[in-house]
Amino acid sequence: MIKIGIIGYGYWGPNLVRNFFGQKNCIIKTVADARPHRLQTLKNAYPSISGELDAEDIINDPEIEAVVIATPVFTHFELAKKALLNGKHVLLEKPMASSVKECEILIDLAQQKNLLLMVDHTFLYTGAVEKIKEIIDSDTLGNIKYLDSTRINLGLFQPDINVLWDLAPHDLSILRFLHDEKPYSVNATGISHTNNNIENIAFMTINYPSGFIAHLNCSWSSPVKVRMMMIGGDKKMIVYNDVEPTEKIKIYDTAYSIKSDDEKKSILVDYRVGDIYVPKINNKEALGAVADDFINGILENKTPRSSFSIGLDIVKLLEASELSIKNKGEEIILN
Ligand SMILES: NC(=O)c1ccc[n+]([C@@H]2O[C@H](COP(=O)([O-])OP(=O)(O)OC[C@H]3O[C@@H](n4cnc5c(N)ncnc54)[C@H](O)[C@@H]3O)[C@@H](O)[C@H]2O)c1
Repeated sequence: MIKIGIIGYGYWGPNLVRNFFGQKNCIIKTVADARPHRLQTLKNAYPSISGELDAEDIINDPEIEAVVIATPVFTHFELAKKALLNGKHVLLEKPMASSVKECEILIDLAQQKNLLLMVDHTFLYTGAVEKIKEIIDSDTLGNIKYLDSTRINLGLFQPDINVLWDLAPHDLSILRFLHDEKPYSVNATGISHTNNNIENIAFMTINYPSGFIAHLNCSWSSPVKVRMMMIGGDKKMIVYNDVEPTEKIKIYDTAYSIKSDDEKKSILVDYRVGDIYVPKINNKEALGAVADDFINGILENKTPRSSFSIGLDIVKLLEASELSIKNKGEEIILN
């Protein structure tokens, strides 16, 4: 049994507590939150878990082997660094940290101390994303040409991070999981309607050497909630609508092929529109699988699906997107 501590019992922390509470190989010893009323809520729901105001009570507890951090992004680095220095395995909420430099320091520390460092990119554990991966890997779509994602709603304006840092980690983690090609550049534009330079609407394009292209539209300013991703291959295309309760994925037997007409020196496009197929997906709670992957990763010394490499790659893209936005959409080459 691994004893764990969870820091942060705000919006997302209770979901982590619920799922780790049900994980068979761990016990939650302590939850820390700086706001007393959150600890009262914890006590009402879980009388067996001790609540502390100070995260140091977890970080300095010799009985606690692993720490889960569900606090705002700007606090991730300091809390994770202290936990790793104290010999604890760490599961960090997304995005991993506020900069590439911070992620690299944490990764170095985890490697030096032989500790597991994982990032909670929850979507990688959903039945829908697992099914899309299976479909792509079986070559059903053919060569993948594009991924286009819309993640918009009337969202909570964050005081410290822009809408891409808040919402795009979901799309970027799915993109990284489904298409394992190293991107070469990023362009992004966005707007802040709040006079604090924190964009509430932003668009990001990720360019790849093969000609594959990914585009993200993220907004906290939409009247409707849309969670829609389209993935186009040269044989078939997928529409992934995450707000659909059951039929989240539809495979369209739709494609086009290009022929060049040498006589007219032009391009001819042949279209094909066929059936639509709805595959069955597993409706398990993804966060339960995140908890299993973290605890089993510690017990079996194995790399989790949502590894620190994925966490780092996502922060690289977010950092590049921020630079591009501040430079009016300039193309930022990734190294
Ligand atoms: N994986 C997902 O799908 C998902 C969904 C939502 C949020 N998140 C992530 O979870 C993290 C937290 O987001 P949230 O929406 O729950 O934020 P929140 O502000 O609702 O909650 C954060 C909590 O942490 C506490 N806290 C902050 N610093 C602390 C410290 N040093 N010591 C003790 N307590 C501290 C605050 O009092 C607060 O209750 C973020 O990284 C966010 O991106 C992930």
